[in-house]
Amino acid sequence: MSQPVAIITGASSGMGFAVTKHLLGDGWRVVMADIDEESGRKAAAELGDQVLFCLTDVSCYSQQADLFEKAFFWGGGRLDLFAANAGISDTQFLQKNDYQYDRNGIPLPLNLKAMDVNFTAVVQGIWLFKHYARQNKVAGGKVVITSSSAGLYQMTTNPIYTASKHALVGLTRALGTTLDQQNIQINAICPAFVSTALCPKDMLDRFPKEHITPMSTVMKAYDTFLKDDTLNGQTVELSQDQLYFRTKPDYPNESQRWLGEDSASFWEEAYKQPVV
Ligand SMILES: NC(=O)c1ccc[n+]([C@@H]2O[C@H](COP(=O)([O-])OP(=O)(O)OC[C@H]3O[C@@H](n4cnc5c(N)ncnc54)[C@H](O)[C@@H]3O)[C@@H](O)[C@H]2O)c1
Repeated sequence: MSQPVAIITGASSGMGFAVTKHLLGDGWRVVMADIDEESGRKAAAELGDQVLFCLTDVSCYSQQADLFEKAFFWGGGRLDLFAANAGISDTQFLQKNDYQYDRNGIPLPLNLKAMDVNFTAVVQGIWLFKHYARQNKVAGGKVVITSSSAGLYQMTTNPIYTASKHALVGLTRALGTTLDQQNIQINAICPAFVSTALCPKDMLDRFPKEHITPMSTVMKAYDTFLKDDTLNGQTVELSQDQLYFRTKPDYPNESQRWLGEDSASFWEEAYKQPVV
């Protein structure tokens, strides 16, 4: 049987790079996608011929579509995992007053690149993944999304990052059951602070060591999702060496429980949505 194939976005650095190496060790072939061409190509060359680097800005749909097409072809017509991992911090801060203006003195829009990369690109990536996963010999596959502990709590300095990572948690929970019907399991990791290039070097040096979550916990989470096909729509918080499965908040009353748990058939009829 041919080897399983993964696309990992944001693979030139940090968690994406570590997951690439981890999967290679387990016999996967990996397509590394990143905007950082220099590091990505260097890493891919060192890792050997089971790796393909694709220069991709995931926030550009056509580039991501090219990535999936190339990966599927390179993988010999199979695609088993989409690790939607690329992410950035806020590029402009909603709470600050650094307005820029057009010629009429109207504020220019806030830069929402973090939403484009962290959320919209993930949605488009899943859209593309479904298309290819349907063509696998056994239709289906897995998606692992990198959310953040900021997707469960908040990072007051980075409201757009926080919102984008919360959105990924909601997306994972909402898609879990429906995508399972297409044999696609979608889950999200919510890491606490991990030492990567996302954090400026001088801050990294000053960051309290006891609050750093090791990369090995990220690998543990991937292993858990890859080995267990019953996990679907799950969000797991990663802190220190532990995985904490985080469920949605409790319903305060029966009416809310009905809306959350039992109203799906009502909405399906309302939207006339074919499930598969
Ligand atoms: N480091 C942490 O403490 C931490 C905690 C929780 C979640 N995360 C999330 O983990 C993921 C990986 O980040 P990391 O910590 O490994 O940081 P990192 O900066 O080391 O890696 C992120 C990678 O994404 C790439 N990237 C950025 N924009 C891109 C784009 N438009 N298209 C393609 N690639 C792009 C970067 O070039 C980089 O290689 C991110 O989604 C991040 O939000 C990080």
